[in-house]
Amino acid sequence: MDLRALPEHGTLLAGLGAAAAAPVEVYLSTARRMLERMVAQPDWVSGLALERKPGGYTRNFLFGEGGISVWAMVWSPGATTSVHDHHCSCCFGVVRGAVREVWFRPISDTHAVATGEADRGPGYVACMLPSGPNLHQMINAGSEEAVSIHVYGYDHHLHASSVDREYQIARL
Ligand SMILES: [Fe+2]
Repeated sequence: MDLRALPEHGTLLAGLGAAAAAPVEVYLSTARRMLERMVAQPDWVSGLALERKPGGYTRNFLFGEGGISVWAMVWSPGATTSVHDHHCSCCFGVVRGAVREVWFRPISDTHAVATGEADRGPGYVACMLPSGPNLHQMINAGSEEAVSIHVYGYDHHLHASSVDREYQIARL
């Protein structure tokens, strides 16, 4: 399904594409507002053809324009990302289920230690810039599938993903 075919989402995505060239604060607030609308009425996700991977997660491309890209991530129970940071802005909203976000502090170019965590339930929206070390890991620690929508400040034609660098977890 092309999200632009949905009247409300088509309007939201057109606004996001137009905001991609705006100052970063304008772009981020547009992305946040779009995600807040999308997570507030989550039923539209049922119409998407989303890939699933038992025990893992999938990235499903939804939209790309003006150097930004929008993805739906499906998190099966037990799905865990690497510890990573981003080379671009990253906004996400949780549509269904819950994902745990764990933050890390780098102790070298290759290793990092956990500094905190939070469970993000349906309706949660966050935006962040690649402003210095901003390491995190996403985990579906529950027994239900989770779905989140991610808006990244990168052109999907130019980058394979939003990940800048990956780290190993240091056991101190
Ligand atoms: Fe991330």
